[in-house]
Amino acid sequence: QILPRLYHEKVIDHYNNPRNVGSFDKNDPNVGTGLVGAPACGDVMKLQIKIDEESGKIVDACFKTFGCGSAIVSSSVATEWVKGKSMDEVLTIKNTEIAKHLSLPPVNLLHCSMLAEDAIKAAVKDVELKRAKLKGNSSADA
Ligand code: FES
Ligand code: FES
Repeated sequence: QILPRLYHEKVIDHYNNPRNVGSFDKNDPNVGTGLVGAPACGDVMKLQIKIDEESGKIVDACFKTFGCGSAIVSSSVATEWVKGKSMDEVLTIKNTEIAKHLSLPPVNLLHCSMLAEDAIKAAVKDVELKRAKLKGNSSADA
């Protein structure tokens, strides 16, 4: 063993092959965008979810993170976890679960994985607002 095992192999895997890097059209009414920053370090994470109009389930997710390795792997895991879930379900995802799954070093546990939890919440809020607006408009038109 040449390299010190500071990071769990899951971290290295997500760092080398981040899942679901990219962007969706933020004007799509079924896309929710969460853009959050970490005041402690200035890092920024954008996480987007795409939901099925009928069921309201999350069918796809992507992210872009301008931040440290722990933030990148946390967002990669978060995008994997939210797929196929309802918006209520993903609101219960905790940064501590993400950090535990990745065995992140304790220094990175709080802030970096917190970005992912916050970004999921912000994305859900965004799409819920959009959908509420659309509903409001269509009933007003009717
Ligand atoms: Fe900066 Fe974690 S977000 S130290
Ligand atoms: Fe900034 Fe980790 S140090 S998100």
